Formats: sequence, structure tokens, C-alpha cells
Amino acid sequence: MRAYWLISLVAAAVLAPARPAAAQALPPARATPEQRAAAALAQMTLDEKLTLLMGYFSTDFARTQYTAPPEGRAASAGYVPGIPRLGIPAQWQTDAGMGVASQGRAAEKRARTALPSTLATAATWDPQMAFFGGQMIGNEARADGFNVMLAGSVNLMREPRNGRNFEYAGEDPLLAGAIVGAQIAGIQTNPVISTAKHYAVNDQETDRGAGNSVIGEAALRTSDLLAFQFALERGRPGAVMCAYNRINGSYGCEHPFLLTQILRTEWQWPGYVLTDWGAAHSTAPAANAGLDQESGYGLQRDAWFGADKLKAALGTRKIDQRRIDLMATRVLTALYAHGLVDHPATPGIVGPLDMHRWVTQRDAEAGIVLLKNLGGLLPLVAKTIAVIGGHADKGVISGGGSSQVYPDGVNAVPGIAPTEWPGPVVYYPSSPLDELRTILPGVSFTFTDGADAAAAARAAAAADVAIVFATQWATESVDVALTLDGDQDRLIEAVANANRKTIVVLETGGPVLMPWAGQVPAIVEAWYPGRMGGLAIARVLSGQVSPSGRLPATFPRSLDQLPHPEAPHKGDVDYTEGAAVGYKWFDKNNLEPLFAFGHGLSYTSFGYGPLSVTRDGDGFTAKVAVTNTGARRGSEVVQLYVSGGGWEAPRRLGGFSKVELAPGERALVELRIDPRLLAVWDVRVPGWSRAAGRYHFSLAQSSRVFGETVTLQLPAGHLTPQWRP
Ligand code: BGC
Repeated sequence: MRAYWLISLVAAAVLAPARPAAAQALPPARATPEQRAAAALAQMTLDEKLTLLMGYFSTDFARTQYTAPPEGRAASAGYVPGIPRLGIPAQWQTDAGMGVASQGRAAEKRARTALPSTLATAATWDPQMAFFGGQMIGNEARADGFNVMLAGSVNLMREPRNGRNFEYAGEDPLLAGAIVGAQIAGIQTNPVISTAKHYAVNDQETDRGAGNSVIGEAALRTSDLLAFQFALERGRPGAVMCAYNRINGSYGCEHPFLLTQILRTEWQWPGYVLTDWGAAHSTAPAANAGLDQESGYGLQRDAWFGADKLKAALGTRKIDQRRIDLMATRVLTALYAHGLVDHPATPGIVGPLDMHRWVTQRDAEAGIVLLKNLGGLLPLVAKTIAVIGGHADKGVISGGGSSQVYPDGVNAVPGIAPTEWPGPVVYYPSSPLDELRTILPGVSFTFTDGADAAAAARAAAAADVAIVFATQWATESVDVALTLDGDQDRLIEAVANANRKTIVVLETGGPVLMPWAGQVPAIVEAWYPGRMGGLAIARVLSGQVSPSGRLPATFPRSLDQLPHPEAPHKGDVDYTEGAAVGYKWFDKNNLEPLFAFGHGLSYTSFGYGPLSVTRDGDGFTAKVAVTNTGARRGSEVVQLYVSGGGWEAPRRLGGFSKVELAPGERALVELRIDPRLLAVWDVRVPGWSRAAGRYHFSLAQSSRVFGETVTLQLPAGHLTPQWRP
């Protein structure tokens, strides 16, 4: 009897139609995302669940094993099919944090509004600016029919030669987390899921697919992970992208400590984890470690989360059904929570474009950093100006790789190598020279391309002022030298020798060495300033806008000041500096940087009232009045550094706020100081521990120039790993 019953059950299973049961009515939109996800899951076949767990690369690539779905958007980063009978949309994925990119070999690149580099946005020190930029690019992504944006790049700048530093937000966990978190929140005001990436310690490109980042747990928690934690708390991204590299021996996409212990158990983050493109390395170990979705199938010949592999793992019980359900539930919940189900992504009209251009222009203006301005050489006052180099007559450079946004109009300087991946090198058609001519009609300009240093020097000698535009191209997949490209250092020296009123405008991915810094009176860091970069630069140089950017990263004087002076290498990268990243390393080792973290000059001046610091829950609130004491409208970045004993470095950025003031105007600025920034991670307890003692709260112009300090005697304190602000 029993045997017969079993046989008939097996027969029923074999003979059962593969067709799924007809969909029951799903709960209404007012149910919670969790309830809706559970109801959808209950109606899904195994194959439907597995569909949600694997994504394809751009449709331009030939498949080997699985067939490319026809409805993937052309030249996009990725595609995960939906389940139409249950109203579950496909996931159309696009890069990235500076706008809607185009992937693959498609000849036709979609032309979209490019923001400045994320590092430039970090240099605004203005999360609101990052939020508006996110809103804008999320809107464009939607209009292109995308509903997942692979943005939110928040790896710390440990290595100033990392080729992707321009995609990240600098060296400080608070600044990076606040900027990127705001960008994510902005993107997600649209029915679009943003990622936070690349989790974690993907801090160089050399050997990124196999390299191993070695770092102690406490250091990791107070540096790279803290940046992610801040970004997740502020931005609440629907997804996190795990990184290519290994961390302490295990690949980031099969790392139980990072994917489950930290993300889910401690931070209680509810989203799904997807891999970087081709970053999966296993089926059961990755799924059980906390990976939910493999991305980029087609980049590699095989897929680890293909339905056949997942079913085989179920069959051998290496994965159990509850794990598959959990993975699918996490994806579904995010789709419901972020409006992707209720607002299907259909391609529409991008815009209003004028507004989008204004957003990127404002961002670029606010991120430009005036590094040096001897004798008030800027803003420009001159009758004749020699503009030299950097293709300033044509446009502004941008960074390469998957995040590359292609401009409307044309690549202003086509044909520069490499023209294929990791290129092309793209210049946005926004010429600083043209914009300067428009803004300063009374000035006579000459342009020299800079290829011939002697010719450039002659042009400089014949003008009142010389402006050299100097560039460095950086891109995903390779690291850079800490220098300007080509022979530009020599060009600057030649021009500076010919005209003592030489201004250098840098368009770089990150910090560069400046052997000529002492020979020129004015230096401006414009980063990759985005689609309206030429106008933004011209407005700052001419004084239409007072510069208000501050460095989000330390500019070293020489390579030997870095924790790892030798070029990035393969294999184990032992981050022996621990949490002492950037300015913390410089402070700890008493090194004088060329330009300090937080540094940036203005055309106006600001005065500060007395500083007060009071306890506020587990954290603190600092208050100070700031007055614009100069003659021009301008923005001040109020910076507060905290210091205590037993830390990785003498001080940390504790809080910051940007305030725009008219001449004579005064504002009261309030800064909230997160209690984790006054603590160290205690692996034994575990959690955040603050020792009893004296703690200093200092106003500052940079990590090296301090104003008033308030000192408080604080008792010991402890925060659990689950603590949230
Ligand atoms: C990059 C990711 C990107 C992905 C999809 C990878 O090469 O590391 O940042 O989102 O490609 O284009």
C-alpha cells in the first residue's frame, strides 16, 4: 500500500504539467512589500524562482549556454527576466553613478547627461547636491526603460592610483558614506533600485578578479565597512553589489562574514546581493554565504546560478529549498519596496534636459577646488589670456570603463587611444575656452594646444595671464600613475617660466603629484567635471561663482609618503595601514601633504562664532554660527574633527555641513556627530567601545588647519553591532 502510494506520487510528479498554476489574486498595493513578496513567492514554480537569481550581460554578446532574452535593453549592463503572469517585471540594469552609461560593443551609444565624477561630487561636501544628481540620473535611467542602476560606488580611496577613484567618494568613511548614501537616495526617488558597490575593499584595479585584500577585522569595520554602513543607512539601496576581489582569503561574492554576518545579521539590511559582472565563483557556497543573484552571464562562459546548477545543488542538498526561497524573496521584496512592480519601466522621454544640465553644472561648480591662489590671481582680471593644453578649446575629459556616459552631441576629441575597452577616451563638448570667451568678452584669448612646450611658453609670455589645462585619464580595469598624462609636467614648468601669472587647471581622476606646485601661483582642481564642465570651470575662473569645493582626499607630495609607495601589485595586498586611510595615515606619521584632506580656498571669507558641543542621544550635536565676512556670495564647508585616545590615527572627521551665504549673512550650523566616530571596534565584546577620557571636537579649515576646540570628559560607552542611528 505504502509502496503504491509512493509510486503514484512520483508518477504524479513526473506526469504533472510543467505549466504553473493559474495566478491567484495578489495582495493589493497597500500590503507591505514583504507580504506582497511572500504572496508572489507562494505562487511561483521553482523555475520562476530561479529566473530571479541569474542575470545576463548586455544583449550584444553571444551566449554559449543560455539564450539571451530578446527583451534586454540594447547596450545595457544587464538583464534579469521577469515573471509576467505574476506581474513581476524584468530587471533592466544600467551603469552607473555619473549617469546612464552604454555597455557592450553596440555602435550606437545612448547620449545622456553626465554628472561630474563621483569624486568631484564628494568634493562638494554637499549631500544635497549628490541627492539632486542621483534624482536626475535616476530619472534618465527610467526614461531609458531601466529600473536598476548600478550606482552607489563607495570604496574608500586607500590607493590614490586606483583607476576607479573617480567613481568613488574619497578617503573618509563619513564623507564617502554621506555623499554616496545621498546619491542612492536621490536615484531611488524614482522607481529604480540602486546598488551600493563594490562590497568590499575593492580598492585597486590591478588583479581585481583574483587579488586578495588583507585587513584586520577592527580596521575593516572602522574604514571601508563603515563607509558602506553610512551609505546603506542614508541611502537604503535595494541592492548591494559584491566585489570581484577576495577579502582575507575568500571571494567577496561568497563571503559569509560580509554577506550574512555583517549585512543581514548586524546591519539588518533587507535588500538583495548581486555580483559584480562575472564575480561569482561557486553555486552552493555562494548561495549559502548570502549571495542572491549572479550578474553578467555572457561575460564568462559559464553561469554558477543557472537553473540547471541550482537544481543540481538542490538535488544533492548542497542548497535547500528554504535558501532558494530566501534568495527569491529578497529580490522580490526589493522590487515591491522600490516601486518597480507598481510602476513598470517603459522607455519614455528624458528630461527636462535643460534642468538636467543645470543640475550637473551646479554639481561641477560646487566640486571645483581652489587649491592655491597667491596674490588673489583668481578670479581672472586680465586683458590678454593665453589658454594652453588639455583640449580646452574643445571640451573636458571624462573617466572610462563601464561607468562611461556618452554625451549628446559628439565626443569632442575623438580618436585618442584606447578607442576600445577600457576606452574610448571621451571629452564632453563643453569647452572652457569658449565659455571663458563668452563670459569675458573684453578679454583677448589665444589658444595653444600644448604639444610644443616652447610654443606654449611663447604664447604665455605674450599674455597677461596663462592658464594651462592639464589632464589625467583614468579608467576601470587599470590603475594609473600618480601623475598627469604624457609630458604635461614639463609643459607647465615651461609656461610657468615664461609667465609668472600661470594658473593650472587640473582635470584628473584623483590626486596627482605636482612637481611644479611651487612655481605657479594658482592651482584649480576641476576633476572630471561632467557634461557642463567647461562652463563650470569658466564660471569659477571668472568669479561668477566663488569656489567652494574641498578635497575629499589627500594630495601627497611624493610617492614615498604613501603607505604603499610601490605600484599596485597582484596577489595579496596587505593593508598594513589598517583604518589609517588617507589623512589619518599622514597625521599618524606626521607627514606634510601637498594639499590636505578638506583643503579648499574661496573668493570670500568666513567668520565663526563660539562652538558648543552637547550630548544628543548616543551621539553629540555641535553648533556654531558662521558669517560671510567677505564681499562675495559663497559657500563655506564647516568641518569638525574629533580626537580621542587609542584610535588608528590622531583624528577623524566627525561632522560637516555646507552653507551658502550672501556677504554679511550669518547662519547657525548644526552638526550631528555619530557615536561610532568616537569609538573603536572591539572584536572581543563585540561592538563599538568608547573608552572613558577626554575627547576633543575641533572646527577646521582642513584636516590640518584648526579653529576652536571644545573638550569633553566622557564616560566609557558601548554600542552593540546592531546599533543604528
Ligand atoms: C564593474 C561594475 C559594473 C559592471 C556592469 C563591472 O565591470 O566593475 O562596476 O557595474 O561591470 O557593467
